[in-house]
Amino acid sequence: MQAVFFEGNRTFRVGESVAVEPGAGQVQIRVSFCGICGTDLHLFHGAMAHRLTLPHVMGHEMSGTIASVGSGVADWRAGDRVTVRPLDPCGHCPACVAGHSHICHNLKFIGIDTPGALQGIWTVPAHTLHRLPDSLSLREGAMVEPVAVACHDVRMSDLKQGEFAAVIGGGPIGILVALVAQARGARVVLAEVNQFRVELARDLGLDAVNPLETDLPQLVSDRTGGAGADVVFEVSGSQAGADTMTKLPRTRGRIVVVAIYAEPPKVDLFRFFWRELKLSGARVYEAEDFELAIELAATGRLPLARLITDVLPLNRLEDAMHRMEGGGDCMKILVSCTD
Ligand SMILES: NC(=O)c1ccc[n+]([C@@H]2O[C@H](COP(=O)([O-])OP(=O)(O)OC[C@H]3O[C@@H](n4cnc5c(N)ncnc54)[C@H](O)[C@@H]3O)[C@@H](O)[C@H]2O)c1
Ligand SMILES: [Zn+2]
Ligand SMILES: [Zn+2]
Repeated sequence: MQAVFFEGNRTFRVGESVAVEPGAGQVQIRVSFCGICGTDLHLFHGAMAHRLTLPHVMGHEMSGTIASVGSGVADWRAGDRVTVRPLDPCGHCPACVAGHSHICHNLKFIGIDTPGALQGIWTVPAHTLHRLPDSLSLREGAMVEPVAVACHDVRMSDLKQGEFAAVIGGGPIGILVALVAQARGARVVLAEVNQFRVELARDLGLDAVNPLETDLPQLVSDRTGGAGADVVFEVSGSQAGADTMTKLPRTRGRIVVVAIYAEPPKVDLFRFFWRELKLSGARVYEAEDFELAIELAATGRLPLARLITDVLPLNRLEDAMHRMEGGGDCMKILVSCTD
């Protein structure tokens, strides 16, 4: 079975996957599809190099079928269709003890700190598994992880039915935040500067605008009778997005920062005083977010297949990275990991 090894310096090498026999509490998975995300692109560019052991196998947005299980694994058997919640918390730090193991102080992110899913066969702890229902294709199954990010973000925002949400940034995560918020009964406007992504979001039934052409604060004000948005999600990771996010909320509105910034952005704290705003962060997901993501995906309420713009073979991973770097006409790129 194939694997693609990252060797640093923007270089991948196609080789053979090392089949790790599942130890106690582990399962071995035949990987079907793995999505590429911005984090993988950051690794390709040399970010977080101190966390990687080279050569490194990336990938954490996957679907597959269990090949074998290790000792002590009772709930899973060969043939089960699964996706992985790629978090391995320590279990004893203050965050874990407080019940927030998804943001464990010593969190190992599987696919960064340990080998990932961009290979034909992959061994992970059984506690990371979630079952994929038969109604969900394995391609859509590889989208569950980013959907779970969106479910967590919306849950952290405390968004209620009928509320108005503004989402800044319409990449895979922003568009999913908008779709999940809409599925939860919110009114949503999505702002995105890439016109291909604006058009795709519109095709999916979202109210999407390009803030380079539209006065976003004015539009949000108009849509809310002058009040402002109940919730603003900053998912662009840009200074312009951080500038805009404080201009959109209503009095006592909430801002949720989902994006990861290359540099700490400037934030207009005056608006927090003036409108008594609330700001929170949202990071990855908890088990319940994965379960909700699978449920939403399986009921067909999210047009996941239409977010997948490319499916490439494993040996074209480098092309996938270049395509994402271009920032042009792509949304989610999946890699087929079976030979
Ligand atoms: N909180 C978490 O756990 C978590 C998980 C996954 C991703 N992320 C972060 O969330 C962000 C989004 O992820 P993604 O995979 O969708 O990335 P992405 O880079 O594909 O999407 C960002 C989008 O924002 C758009 N954009 C840039 N400037 C803008 C502006 N001024 N106004 C409107 N849109 C603008 C870009 O065109 C792009 O489409 C990234 O920063 C990523 O690192 C966070
Ligand atoms: Zn990801
Ligand atoms: Zn911990």
